[in-house]
Amino acid sequence: MKKLQNKHIVLAISGGIAAYKSADLARRLQDAGASVRVIMTESAQEFVTPLTFQALSGNPVVTAGSAANGMAHIELARWADLVLVAPATADFIARLIHGRADDLVAALCLATGAPVAVAPAMNRQMWENPATRTNIQLLDQRGIQRFGPAQGSQACGETGYGRMLEPQELVEQCATLFDSGRLQGVSILITAGPTQEPIDPVRVITNLSSGKMGYAVARAALDAGAKVTLVSGSTCLTPPERVKTVRVQTAQQMFDAVHERLDDTQIFIGIAAVSDYRVEEPAQSKLKKSADTLEIKLVKNPDILASVAARNPRPFCVGFAAETDHLEDYARKKLEQKRLDMIAANLVGGETGGIGTDDNALLLLTPHSKVELPRAAKSQLARQLIEHMANHYFEQKNPA
Ligand code: PMT
Repeated sequence: MKKLQNKHIVLAISGGIAAYKSADLARRLQDAGASVRVIMTESAQEFVTPLTFQALSGNPVVTAGSAANGMAHIELARWADLVLVAPATADFIARLIHGRADDLVAALCLATGAPVAVAPAMNRQMWENPATRTNIQLLDQRGIQRFGPAQGSQACGETGYGRMLEPQELVEQCATLFDSGRLQGVSILITAGPTQEPIDPVRVITNLSSGKMGYAVARAALDAGAKVTLVSGSTCLTPPERVKTVRVQTAQQMFDAVHERLDDTQIFIGIAAVSDYRVEEPAQSKLKKSADTLEIKLVKNPDILASVAARNPRPFCVGFAAETDHLEDYARKKLEQKRLDMIAANLVGGETGGIGTDDNALLLLTPHSKVELPRAAKSQLARQLIEHMANHYFEQKNPA
């Protein structure tokens, strides 16, 4: 199979002289099996015409001028398995770091849930400037992939760091982001996001889960070649196009949606922050403010993860443990009590974040092992989690 078979790559071009190399890059990405769609900033079009990329990619190029459909960049953001900005100028990187959306490429990078990779290309003094150094550090901290730059002679006549990597090197780097189909064909069912338990028709009991961790794991599993179904509580996130997504509100709906899909599931990953309790009898009409205190009777919700792990036969079961203290002790208890194959423990709340944030740190426990994944962007942690999980899954399936 080709390195980038069936991958959707958005090639985003910002305005630097290296843009001429991106024409060759578009062709080489396709030779590696990818479908390529191109988006260009205004200044990129000063260097190469959209027509060149339209002819090479076989798809219309998205530019501010071409955007008859004002949502074209959003559509691309959803379509992408990877957004590769090549060349990425110093100015573009600075705008990316500041979350600007003042051109279509920057807006696409903000709007996508796919990994974003940049191939910096600039004069060596610009690369060495402290402002650029700080921006590059922030890129790395946020889990934005960076390919290069290389050292060598530059279009401006100087020699040093700042050359964009050669097109074939960029293709190889892109391929390393996709996990070469480690989980090819494996069916994975994932829960993500918060549940909401109605109190009355307009009020709910819920929690701070954003769904970011669950959606990142869904994407990483997809990139590893798995068939992914996501059962998601209410979030503002857009799932990757090829993930089958089922939206639910309550814990009971999540329980039902999961159990309906277990026959075809080889791995179950419970990342949702499921409400442990629900209101016994939600009011039929909006509760009126009257007495100084209000008592609401809560009853226990079913434990979705434990119920999946109790089945026979059952899928490989991975849980998450969200704790505010005693992380390892409490997580190990959950691993044992719910009879899981693996648990990913995270500290949540207060200054440690974890819930609702873009980054996190995980402690991966199995009955016989422990691995710490240091703080990183959730997209990066998700890839590491999938890698470790795949090792344990295949060890269990095919014991030595
Ligand atoms: O969504 P984000 O903002 O990115 O935040 C990510 C996260 C903090 C929500 C995530 O990393 C996480 O820790 N998810 C699990 C949250 C949780 O409910 O943990 P718990 O320790 O209460 O539950 C243990 C496990 O049992 C979890 O896998 C949970 O999905 C599952 N569970 C819990 C209760 C229940 N009724 N049914 C369940 O399946």
